[in-house]
Amino acid sequence: MRTSYKLHVALACVLFAGGIHQAVQAQSKSPAPQLSATNVKQIVAAMTLEEKSKLVVGMGFKMPGVPPPVKGKKPEAIDIGGFKLPPSDPDAYNIPEKVPGAAGRTHAIPRLGIPSITVSDGPAGLRIEPIRNGDKSKTYYATAFPVATLLASTWDTQLVNKVGVAFGNEVREYGVDILLAPGLNIHRNPLGGRNFEYYSEDPLVAGSMTAAIVNGIESNGVGTSIKHYAANNQETNRNSINTIVSERAMRELYLRGFEIAVKKAQPWTVMSSYNKLNGTFTSERRDLLTTILKKEWGFKGFVMTDWFGGKDAVAQMKAGNDLLMPGNPTQSDDIVAAVKSGKLSAQQLDANVERILNVIVQSPTFKKYKYSDAPDLAGHAAVAREAAAQGMVLLKNDDHALPFGTGKRIAVFGNTSYDIIAGGTGSGDVNKAYTISLMQGLANANFKLQETLSNNYKAYLTDMKAKQPKPKNFFDHPAPIPEMDVNAIVGEEANGADEALITIGRNAGEGADRKLESDYYLNDAEKGLINGVASAFHAKGKKVIVVLNVGGVVDVTAWRDKVDGILLAWQPGLEAGNAIADVLSGKVNPSGKLATTFPADYKDVPSANNFPGTPEGKPTQVIYEEGIYVGYRYYDAAKVTPAYEFGYGLSYTNFKFSDLKLSSKVFKNMITASVTVKNTGDVAGKEVVQLYLAAPKKDLDKPEDELKAFGKTKLLAPGQSQTLTFTIKAADLASFYTDRQAWIADEGDYKVKIGSSSRKIEETASFSLAKDITVEKVNKALLPEQTINELKLK
Ligand code: BGC
Repeated sequence: MRTSYKLHVALACVLFAGGIHQAVQAQSKSPAPQLSATNVKQIVAAMTLEEKSKLVVGMGFKMPGVPPPVKGKKPEAIDIGGFKLPPSDPDAYNIPEKVPGAAGRTHAIPRLGIPSITVSDGPAGLRIEPIRNGDKSKTYYATAFPVATLLASTWDTQLVNKVGVAFGNEVREYGVDILLAPGLNIHRNPLGGRNFEYYSEDPLVAGSMTAAIVNGIESNGVGTSIKHYAANNQETNRNSINTIVSERAMRELYLRGFEIAVKKAQPWTVMSSYNKLNGTFTSERRDLLTTILKKEWGFKGFVMTDWFGGKDAVAQMKAGNDLLMPGNPTQSDDIVAAVKSGKLSAQQLDANVERILNVIVQSPTFKKYKYSDAPDLAGHAAVAREAAAQGMVLLKNDDHALPFGTGKRIAVFGNTSYDIIAGGTGSGDVNKAYTISLMQGLANANFKLQETLSNNYKAYLTDMKAKQPKPKNFFDHPAPIPEMDVNAIVGEEANGADEALITIGRNAGEGADRKLESDYYLNDAEKGLINGVASAFHAKGKKVIVVLNVGGVVDVTAWRDKVDGILLAWQPGLEAGNAIADVLSGKVNPSGKLATTFPADYKDVPSANNFPGTPEGKPTQVIYEEGIYVGYRYYDAAKVTPAYEFGYGLSYTNFKFSDLKLSSKVFKNMITASVTVKNTGDVAGKEVVQLYLAAPKKDLDKPEDELKAFGKTKLLAPGQSQTLTFTIKAADLASFYTDRQAWIADEGDYKVKIGSSSRKIEETASFSLAKDITVEKVNKALLPEQTINELKLK
């Protein structure tokens, strides 16, 4: 007791002495302590102010296409696609990088045994340079796993965890310490340019998927950075847009997934977002980063900025944004000056440093892990293929159009059938060794293909690609190649083939949101292709299937009646063609379900009038007037029928739900709900079971019902059943009452709805809560600076 008290006093003196101590340390001849897993506080105390200011500011980012600073010349800011980048850090070029192509590093402080750790993107696979110094004899390709929208559509957290285990192995074996992923922003609007990097419109799905993949990745002894915290749901003017949103919508939707992920997986780091939230950059908001994330949720890791996010290094430090990325020497200078002038407390800086060091001591680099640069790419490709097939969603299947019969002759239309899109662009892109096209996948699955048609497409695409302009910068992407005109040949194809397949592809990514014309809506050439193929093939009594190779939602209303089947294949990663063929052939029975609604029309989207903000053209602010009514929460409460609802997806078999049983009719601390699912069809399959809860509406506007639990059956043989059990806790009953700063479960009757989609409710049961429960009191935080005219649907 006494010794520890003395130690405390001694430590407090050391901390208090601040600058004096540092001067003594610098002069003393005794060897400096070396960082270990148990002496982080001692190291913080031994660091000079300058060392601390370097540790909290990263380095090592080389913007593709941006030249290194010239020696002796003051580095100047550079304009990239309309965004001014601060001058690059000369250290990025002077200190050899461990992993070329990684997004950044921290500064090493060799005097104290603090190594530099490496961080790298991104959500669908490790983004590093595949070829180093032009030497092709050794490559560093990574696996492109399916994008997040697809992974969420598996509704299978075990499988997503398995993807994480494989993914994290690549992070470790390529020498990276922290993966800058996963992303879990909410699909607020279908036009969000990075929606493919994010999971869902629902925070329970997003948070559960995040926790599953983080646990998988981090089981390899490497870290993750869950991003972008928070309310970063668009790309338009992303670096300064002011997102104006109510505390309730923040707590119930935009923070909820992060909260679930932090509590279930304790990721090593969290990445703050670019946007302002209610007037202040998220990276400068202490209530968001310290009060909520660190204090209320108990987050133990550190927070890093998004690259060049926010403006004021000192405000970021104060807010608890521990690490500034990619870092610039000016930020370190500002921090030093602020501590010296008393604008920033030494204690705050120490707290930030300590959090970073606590993560560094866990890192493979600190542990001197000998990475192989040779992960099991073949094994991981198999995981990617399995996950891809499990997350594809069968949207339409009239008269058993799918699966295709064995050995059928298929006429394959659509540019993307030949040039499949494995994943989105920007930092979410992956340098993969190959991508299996749909053509190849079908051929591998022993389907017969119409050769002349295929050759025509290949020649057309080669020719058109040669004419495409080269991208000007990282954010510039050539316009998609228009669909080839097949009018002259479609009749002949309909004679020769048994079935037609058309792929419609979409790509998007960082830096821009999607457009309505020719992106959300199909363009005339695409609609013409569907019409032309459908009439020619239907005239011969032959079926037409559309494969959607997209990262986000597209319109289906204008064309879906023309075709017999639609498979939503998303962007399925490097094994794309094989995985799609697995589902088309019936080798895998589709079991994916939508984790994001396909509306009947864009104008039905609750944020349609508030995206991407005002003034039009170059928005500076976006007001979330739809409040908590995002996705199915809106469509269900407003009684708007979508094209395909949240949770929807068909199978090649049928399932019957029965015997919903609640453990009690009266809620005490928790209730369990069990339900039995039986495969009543004639092929094996899996079903996703979704538990929605309708809460009593007293004074508060509440959604009709909300997803509170989900599970997926194992592969059930025909006739086989499985019983799934879910637990409902008090927190699941609660809504956020802004005026009372609390999560409160209202007394009254609750209805449990078990569905195979949000609109296909198979079984229901009720329980009651006798008295209100205040589940949690929270801090006043995130207050909007203006009144928001929020949608009410009560
Ligand atoms: C993106 C982040 C990414 C970072 C580093 C930023 O532009 O928004 O998601 O992790 O760059 O590449």
